Amino acid sequence: MQHQTTIDPVNLEFTPEVERATRAIFERVRHVMPDVEWPIHAPVIAAINELKRVRNATILAHNYQTPEVFYGVGDITGDSLALAQEGARLDTDVIVMCGVRFMAETAKILSPEKTVLLPDMDAGCSLAASITGADVRRLKEQYPGVPVVTYVNAYADVRAEADICCTSSNAVKIVESLKTDRVIFIPDGYLGRYVAKQTDVEVILWEGACEVHERFTAEELRGYRRDYPGIHIMAHPECPPDVLSEADFVGSTSGLIRHIADERPKQVVMVTECSMSDNVAVEFPDVDFIRPCNLCPHMKRITLPKILRSLQTLSPQIEIDPDTAERARRSLERMLAV
Ligand code: 13P
Ligand code: SF4
Repeated sequence: MQHQTTIDPVNLEFTPEVERATRAIFERVRHVMPDVEWPIHAPVIAAINELKRVRNATILAHNYQTPEVFYGVGDITGDSLALAQEGARLDTDVIVMCGVRFMAETAKILSPEKTVLLPDMDAGCSLAASITGADVRRLKEQYPGVPVVTYVNAYADVRAEADICCTSSNAVKIVESLKTDRVIFIPDGYLGRYVAKQTDVEVILWEGACEVHERFTAEELRGYRRDYPGIHIMAHPECPPDVLSEADFVGSTSGLIRHIADERPKQVVMVTECSMSDNVAVEFPDVDFIRPCNLCPHMKRITLPKILRSLQTLSPQIEIDPDTAERARRSLERMLAV
C-alpha cells in the first residue's frame, strides 16, 4: 500500500504510449472537449489510472465533475445517492472522492477502515456551510419530538444530530417514511419547499441554499422557451420554486439523466450545474443540449493534477471524530434502508 511512485505531474508527456492508452476515452469525450485539450489531460489520466491499480484505489465521481475527470478516471459515477450506495459496497483500500467534502465524509462514515481522499479539502458546499450541529440542537429544542431529516449536503456533525438523511432523489420518500405529521428539514430551504409540495407532511424549513441553483431565474427559463420553441426544460429541486414551476420536469441529477433516456427530447436545457450537460451529452449525442453555465466553484476544485497528487501522497485524507461518525452513520444507514 505505501508503494512510492516517481510520476511527476508537471512533466508528464503526451507520448505515443499515452495516446494509445487513452484513445478509447478520447473517442468518448471528443465531441464535448476541444481536441487541443486532450494532449494536456491524457498523460495525467494515464498516470492516475496506472496509480489506481498500484494503490488498489477506486475513484468516485459526481455528475458535476468535468468530462476529463468523470470519463477519464471515474470508476463509479452518479448522483449523491448512487455514490453513497456504491461507496459502501466497495472492496478497495483507497477511495478518492471527486466531488465535495460532504460526499467524501459520507464515504468515510460508511467505510471507516478505508483511506478516503479528497483531492482538495476546500471543496465545500454553500448548503453544508449554512448549518452546524449546534443549530440542529437548537431546532430540536424549539420543536421537541419532531424528527430531523437532513439533506445529505451537510457535514458529519449535522448528520450526527439528525434522525435520517436524504438526497434529492429520495427526499419525499424519506420524509413520508417517518410516518409523522411534521418534520424539520435541513439545510436546503428550496428542496424543503419542493418536498412540502409533494406531501401532506408539514415541513419546517431551514433557509440554506445552493449558490449554484439559486442563481437561476424564472425569467431566464422563459427566455429559453422564447429562443428555442419546443425545448424541454429540466431542473434540479435545489432551484427556487418559481424556477421549478417553469420546468417540464424536476429531478435529482440521476433523475434528469433517466428522464432524457426515457423521453429522448430533441432539445433540452438542464437547469443545474454546468458540467452535467457535457457529461450527459456524451451519452446522448442525438440530443441537442442548450448549456447555461452556472459552475459550482467547489466541484471545480477537483482537477486531474490534484487527483494524481492525492494518489501519490495519499493525502488529504478525511478524518472524522469516531463518536460523531458513528452517530452520523446511523442517520445515513437509516436512509439506505428505506
Ligand atoms: P444530486 O446528485 O444528489 O442530485 O445532488 C446535487 C448536488 O448539488 C450535489 O452537490
Ligand atoms: Fe453544494 Fe450546490 Fe455545489 Fe452541490 S452544486 S456542491 S449543493 S454548492
